[in-house]
Amino acid sequence: MSNFSWQTLPKPIVALAPMSGVSDIAMRSIARRWGSDITFSEFISTDALHFKVAHYLGLGQPKGVHISKEDILRTLEDKAYWEDDKSFVLAKFIEEERPFIIQVFGNEPEHFHTTVTILNQLFKPDGFDINFGCPARSVIHNGAGSCLFLQPDLARKIIETVKMVCDPLPVSIKLRAAYKHVPALEFLKAIEGAPFENVTLHMRTYDQVHHGEPNWDSGKELKQYLATKNIPLIANGGIASGEDAVKVLEYTGADGVMVAQASLGNPFIFSEIKAAIAGKPFEPVSLAQRIETVLAQTRIMLEHKGPRGIIEMRKHFLWYFKGFPNAAELRGLLSKVETIDQLEAALATIHQTQTEPTTA
Ligand SMILES: Cc1cc2nc3c(=O)[nH]c(=O)nc-3n(C[C@H](O)[C@H](O)[C@H](O)COP(=O)(O)O)c2cc1C
Repeated sequence: MSNFSWQTLPKPIVALAPMSGVSDIAMRSIARRWGSDITFSEFISTDALHFKVAHYLGLGQPKGVHISKEDILRTLEDKAYWEDDKSFVLAKFIEEERPFIIQVFGNEPEHFHTTVTILNQLFKPDGFDINFGCPARSVIHNGAGSCLFLQPDLARKIIETVKMVCDPLPVSIKLRAAYKHVPALEFLKAIEGAPFENVTLHMRTYDQVHHGEPNWDSGKELKQYLATKNIPLIANGGIASGEDAVKVLEYTGADGVMVAQASLGNPFIFSEIKAAIAGKPFEPVSLAQRIETVLAQTRIMLEHKGPRGIIEMRKHFLWYFKGFPNAAELRGLLSKVETIDQLEAALATIHQTQTEPTTA
């Protein structure tokens, strides 16, 4: 059993953000190697797992129905039924990622009960995170993600359910600066006393989605409130350099920072942030280091996802070489790669013909 605790995790925390369709097992492991202190899974739908269990058990009206722990776990005995389950692929991690937190989303407490029961049993993560920040239409349409700001009693019930199932593992929550007229602080006050042990704040509103100026005051305000409860805050949004991270930490007083978009093809940012926090200079990585990192990430992907792993890596290849001279040519080269040999050949060509990037 994990003895991870948000309280004892050294501060300031530097974290890779959960990113659906992007922060896969390989990206996360590489981010850890470059200095991320903790990783989160991509978000996992609680509806998907609940309905799959209910279907197996032949439950007619599965939405919101309580399924006993025994029944939930009994379904796992049928290995063929669960083979290649998409949620399981998302929840899988490797030991070097620990502490590893599984993030879940939904709006039915019973679905969280089913999902966390299964994922906890199978994967033994270090904690569960609940997504109260997602602005995606498909998620909001189902009453999940950031629109739960409008239903704090339901949000509380969800947090209590997850904690009850995964106890003694800690539960954390991820919020936005505001959903419509409800700011994060108002939401937090409305769920006061719920059993969560860490908050991550994406300092942008629902309307801003993933772009635009983050509102650092929302971070500062939340930190002041959470300090009275001894709950750490991780600030997120628009952090693209070591300097940004230091400024955000100073301004908000947060206990950590989380980076999403600026880490695409750039796991080096976690070392850069660590160096900036320590007041040390950070040497930009060499082309050889970049190439070695791409290869290491691809090998992890192949090991865990098989040959199709390289296809999923293609978007990462493009991010790694964005801003390089002849970017279009490189894109052509990398977007067709199907095997590790082809990748090595393409990288060797890049090594011979390229200088360092013009932009990071
Ligand atoms: C492609 C993509 C997928 C994302 N998926 C998730 C997710 O699964 N769970 C989550 O809490 N946030 C998700 N986010 C939001 C990020 O975790 C982060 O809060 C947001 O991008 C702001 O950070 P940034 O400015 O450093 O990118 C996603 C963002 C992007 C760009």
